[in-house]
Amino acid sequence: MSTPAGSAISNLAASPFVWGTATASFQIEGAWNADGKGPSIWDNFCRKPGATHLGATGEVACDHYHRYAEDIALMADLGLQAYRFSLSWPRLLPQGTGSGNPAGLDFYDRLVDSLLAKGIAPWVTLYHWDLPQALAARGGWQNPDSPKWFSEYTRLAVERLGDRVAHWLTFNEPQIFTGLAHRMTLHAPGHNLPDSELVPLVHHVLLAHGLSTQAIRACARLAPRISWATIMLPTTPVDEKDSELVTASRHATFRVDPAGHWPLSHSWWTDPIYLGRYPEDGLAGLGQHLPAGWERDLATIAQPMDFLAMNTYHSRARAERAPDGQVRFRQENEFGPQTPRTHFHWPVTPESLYWGPRFLHERYRLPIVVTENGLSTHDWVALDGAVHDPLRIDFLHRYLRDLMRARAEGVPVQGYFHWSLLDNLEWAAGYEHRFGLIHVDFSTQKRTPKDSAHWYREVIRTNGARLQD
Ligand code: FCB
Repeated sequence: MSTPAGSAISNLAASPFVWGTATASFQIEGAWNADGKGPSIWDNFCRKPGATHLGATGEVACDHYHRYAEDIALMADLGLQAYRFSLSWPRLLPQGTGSGNPAGLDFYDRLVDSLLAKGIAPWVTLYHWDLPQALAARGGWQNPDSPKWFSEYTRLAVERLGDRVAHWLTFNEPQIFTGLAHRMTLHAPGHNLPDSELVPLVHHVLLAHGLSTQAIRACARLAPRISWATIMLPTTPVDEKDSELVTASRHATFRVDPAGHWPLSHSWWTDPIYLGRYPEDGLAGLGQHLPAGWERDLATIAQPMDFLAMNTYHSRARAERAPDGQVRFRQENEFGPQTPRTHFHWPVTPESLYWGPRFLHERYRLPIVVTENGLSTHDWVALDGAVHDPLRIDFLHRYLRDLMRARAEGVPVQGYFHWSLLDNLEWAAGYEHRFGLIHVDFSTQKRTPKDSAHWYREVIRTNGARLQD
């Protein structure tokens, strides 16, 4: 095959590439108060009337805490090479700090050992949003001690698992858990903080990332590979031969608007971590709210990273030419009927998996791993007992081809993790958004691999050659 995607696929064998799936503790584990686990902010948030769709909670979710062995057998059937999951902080430390909960530590021991027994590499996220409620009661991420709490929790986890786990992600999408949870009230703990409080909170999270990275490097017995998962919703050009549109897209992707939804921006997070400085456009409007001594913290925040993990679902906007020839931006809700939409109404934009890695690599020069990508669709078990999800197969096919094109053109993409392994609790949106390669009947907990699971197995088995069909 002579297309760029084709040559990237044939080159896959030449450099490391890992195929995986991703989940998060609160979305799948259930067992919300089993064996000494403490409540998380999400356990509490779900109980607030109207906070989640149809009052959904994580009390049972996929009951993965009790069914992990069955789930790992399904992963092995899929031929997964790696599995990204998160640790539940309140399962390990019910009070958030102090001494560890032995049953919680044993659970993750068993999980890691069972994965390794099947030849599946564990990739661990330390924080995928389920803060211990006990720490929220002490101000959560607003508390200047929160970076220290997080690094102590990191030590506990890495001392226990760091002899078998090599891949660590400190935070999942801090943009979302700060923006949606602490400004827009949509996620736990449901706050709407002014900039004077949100800017320091974000700084604490950045510092927590730096201290946690240091703790991983100090405690791990296997040589660790460390990153954090940024959300990457790029602005993309409608015509890539139009260099002005490409430049405008790159600029819009990394722009910080202090008067807009700045916590959801990319570079307010990525610049401090990878470049050791806050971006000028953001500083101009937000700098006055940074806590005293912030300049000193930058050296801790900017710990060297081993790769750049990104989660991408779609483009945020598109750059195009207006009838008068001027560059203009069309936001994601204005893409129009030619752009298909998922069950979540997210636009289907395969090009985001080309431009996202490319823009990030150009700016920060690190290898890229896609740690989340996927879609929710209306899936059900058909009369023949199977789950037919042709849209997921088509989505995956298109997005992966664009990712492989980025690779063919020299972006060092080293892995892809599909979101998600299982249908699960989609945060405040409840159980109706089915993101899994494996269908879950939430009344019986029966698992049924969807057609897409069989298709993805072939992609993995052929190391991407299946994408050429
Ligand atoms: C991401 C989250 C993940 C899941 C997907 C659909 O933003 O990291 O937990 O909810 O979206």
